[in-house]
Amino acid sequence: MKNNKTESWGSRYGFMLATAGSAIGLGNLWKFPYVTGMNGGGSFVLLYLICIFLVGLPVMVGELAVGRAVGGNTVAVFRKLLPPKSLFSDIIGGALLLLGFFMLFTPVNTGSAIISMIAGVLILTTGWIAVGIITGVVIPVLIMGYYGVIGGWTVIYLYKAVTGTLTCATPQEAAQAMSSVSAASDGMFWPVIIAQLLFSGGCFAVLLAGVRSGIERCSKVLMPMLFILLLVLIWRSVSLPGAVAGVRFFLEPDISRISAGSIIIAMGHAFFTLSLAMGIVMTYGSYLDKNTDLVKSTLTVIGLDLMAALMAGLAIFPAVFAMGFKPDAGPALLFNILPASFNQIPGGFGWIWNSIFFFAILIAALTSGISLMEPTIAVISGEFKLSRKVSVIITAVVVLILGTVTSISMTGWQHIPAIGKVFARLWPDNTPAHLFSALDYFSCSWLLPLAGLAMTIYIGWVWGTRHALKEIRRGASKRFDGNLLMLAAGLFQGNQKSLFSAAVMWGVIIRWVTPLLLTVAFLDCIGIIKLQ
Ligand code: PHE
Repeated sequence: MKNNKTESWGSRYGFMLATAGSAIGLGNLWKFPYVTGMNGGGSFVLLYLICIFLVGLPVMVGELAVGRAVGGNTVAVFRKLLPPKSLFSDIIGGALLLLGFFMLFTPVNTGSAIISMIAGVLILTTGWIAVGIITGVVIPVLIMGYYGVIGGWTVIYLYKAVTGTLTCATPQEAAQAMSSVSAASDGMFWPVIIAQLLFSGGCFAVLLAGVRSGIERCSKVLMPMLFILLLVLIWRSVSLPGAVAGVRFFLEPDISRISAGSIIIAMGHAFFTLSLAMGIVMTYGSYLDKNTDLVKSTLTVIGLDLMAALMAGLAIFPAVFAMGFKPDAGPALLFNILPASFNQIPGGFGWIWNSIFFFAILIAALTSGISLMEPTIAVISGEFKLSRKVSVIITAVVVLILGTVTSISMTGWQHIPAIGKVFARLWPDNTPAHLFSALDYFSCSWLLPLAGLAMTIYIGWVWGTRHALKEIRRGASKRFDGNLLMLAAGLFQGNQKSLFSAAVMWGVIIRWVTPLLLTVAFLDCIGIIKLQ
């Protein structure tokens, strides 16, 4: 296979920081802490660790391997590696098309029928390339359509914190501030639109500079800064009187709260937090050289990601508890409870802690947003032979328009009645209240698990573990093939290939465990099975 790479990483260190920058995002600083708190603290962390190693690690290594093997964008991967069309893809495509067609004559919402038909036609005409288009273009653009809005909120919060106007002292006041920031309460959507444009525009500005001098350089500065900020916050939070209760809430194991449902949550989160199936890891892998150790790099990224998640919990809960607030606010924790908690710290320096906190969130969101757009840019420039600059501009125009419409829709559909009417006609039973939740639901509940499933089946069964392992072994340590027990006992001596090795386990997991778990997670997500 010929590799004609146009972009590449400057160093392994830069690549790891950029990948960690992608992985560490709102998932770590916002979702992980409250999900852990609500699902049994330390026991959930353990469950999450198992999921990360059982699902996250193997899929990430596989995604990096397939990207590096081809050295191209996500569409190129599925176009070049093997003939993209097969009987299998024809059957899946045909089935989706027929399903959609029949759905038109049932009470199912027309919108879902149309989406199924479009997916069917896409798969029938492009085969496996459809997976490349969905992971590299559809998912990133749809996610960025609302992630940019959240990014905008952090910009507004940071601005308010720095200027001393984030003065809420109770969660109620904070909730009011939040709904006015998101424009949900007063219909004033201009600030959110501008903030969203600033945030997403910032991501595109970095992307314009390229992989090395944009993504890599900015990750090298921002990621260490993020960890320093988190350390400062942990120090502030943990040294408050009464903070221990927060640490206990976050980490004290409570097995009784672990259920089949929490396993699915842990797995879904492992997938989301490592930015898997969004085309990101595949694209970042394509910029790697052949002698990088994929397993070791993945372990480092996972370690940093986990560290950021745990640090976020230690920065948040002690402050919340010490100020006497309730930790089970769920999603509202970050934007409502925390600012109020920091503002309550005696001495009146709340604005400093809030500024540091929202600056940390902004960094995390920026590096993730940047990574999210790279796959799309790579597809456009690679497949249409356009310059990086033009590809960035095309992507930016589409995403900024989508983000603007999402921001406006947060006030309901009255400002954009035409789009509201389309939704009401296509999904009369459950018209989304705004574009934000529709994009989130469709991309994260449907597309991500399905794309993840298709991708692992492709790597494990179609491309095949034999070829994949050949790619992973390049640059990997001999220990990858060593007997795990011998390794654990310190008796491994180099050249013994063993049946009971990380390599063999990888093959089993990618072929059997992940597809199975992803199927269960997907069925649970869309409500076909209900795990408690
Ligand atoms: N890994 C990110 C997180 O934890 C997920 C993500 C990446 C979301 C890129 C959007 C864009 O938040």
